Amino acid sequence: MSGIDDDEPATRVVTAGRRAEWTQGIVNPPVWRASTILYDSVAQLRETARGDTHHKLFYGRRGTPTQWALADALTELEPGAEGTFLYCSGAAAVTAALLSVLEPGDELLLVDSAYDPTTSFAAGFLKRFGITTRHYDPLIGAGIADLIGENTAAILLESPGSLTFEVQDVPAIVAAAKARGIATIIDNTWATPLLFPAIERGIDLSVLACTKYVVGHSDVMLGSVTAAPGFFAKLRATSFQLGQVASPDDCWLGSRGLRTMAVRLKQHGASGLEVARWLAGRPEVAKVLHPALPDCPGHEHFVRDFKGSSGLFAFALKDGDETSRAAFIDALRLFGIGYSWGGFESLAVPSDPKRALGVPDHGGPLVRLHIGLEDVGDLIADLDQGFAAFRTSRA
Ligand SMILES: Cc1ncc(COP(=O)(O)O)c(C=O)c1O
Repeated sequence: MSGIDDDEPATRVVTAGRRAEWTQGIVNPPVWRASTILYDSVAQLRETARGDTHHKLFYGRRGTPTQWALADALTELEPGAEGTFLYCSGAAAVTAALLSVLEPGDELLLVDSAYDPTTSFAAGFLKRFGITTRHYDPLIGAGIADLIGENTAAILLESPGSLTFEVQDVPAIVAAAKARGIATIIDNTWATPLLFPAIERGIDLSVLACTKYVVGHSDVMLGSVTAAPGFFAKLRATSFQLGQVASPDDCWLGSRGLRTMAVRLKQHGASGLEVARWLAGRPEVAKVLHPALPDCPGHEHFVRDFKGSSGLFAFALKDGDETSRAAFIDALRLFGIGYSWGGFESLAVPSDPKRALGVPDHGGPLVRLHIGLEDVGDLIADLDQGFAAFRTSRA
């Protein structure tokens, strides 16, 4: 026994997906770009086409070691997973996961706090192809069993939920789904497998918008779905039929980002929590929606199931309105105003969730923050002067 626990995700993330037969001594797989792969003979071409092309050079759309290495690394980070498929964005990953388990006539149970494009895909594309959607309360827990009907084929979870950060009772929902043979899909982008190993907890398909923490540098769009045993073949076949392929250049950057994800997440989590606690003590704040704070709906599930928090959360401005919220955000100097999150920089956006089942009143308009890698004292000072602008705007 060496005494070294290479099962720790922070250790695994450094070498995961590396295969000497692909890269020899190269630490990170370089960019192999390809469309055409040449064969020595017609016989070899036919032989390759007949067999399983997984991890074999066949045609560019089936990938090269650059993509395979990142996919394998993400599989290794999800204990118990069978395989991972990569996509050109997180949104594409969500849609491929759904299409791999749904057929016309099926019903999808969709968490009401899901990321807006996921909800739109269900209401638009899935409906057009004869798949109905029923929204459920993110805090439903074991009560999901009562919603499962004859045609229910899949349950989509997102925990914590986009914009309002409810933490779902994943084990209770997984147990109800397994009892009825229903597939579960989770958007695990907020936690990543480092903070919530979804497949180990019984989820069938775990989605990441790698655009966020895997890439980590706000310069690449990328997505992944990691599948439990029994779900990978269907996911892969569906993704091939959809013509999905993530570019080698983007996957190369994804692999680069992945190596530092554990240490970045640690810092995002620590700084995010410090800022959230500071905000909770401010008179201008009605509520802080951060899974690690007791006020957050489903906080008890966070404490039970998660290994830590990342850097994204929201808070409500007490007695604020559109104008005073904009005054607050516009006054910030270190927080950029822009979509996405998971990069090294801090971001602030106004957040106005829309829900089929209605949005709870949080006591004021919401601001969503992503806490980056800047000095946390500087970030707090910046927010402090934002509150001065907020007060002036209301006066
Ligand atoms: C929770 C969540 N899931 C999925 C996505 C989609 O990812 P992408 O922007 O890479 O398409 C996002 C993007 O913001 C997100 O916040």
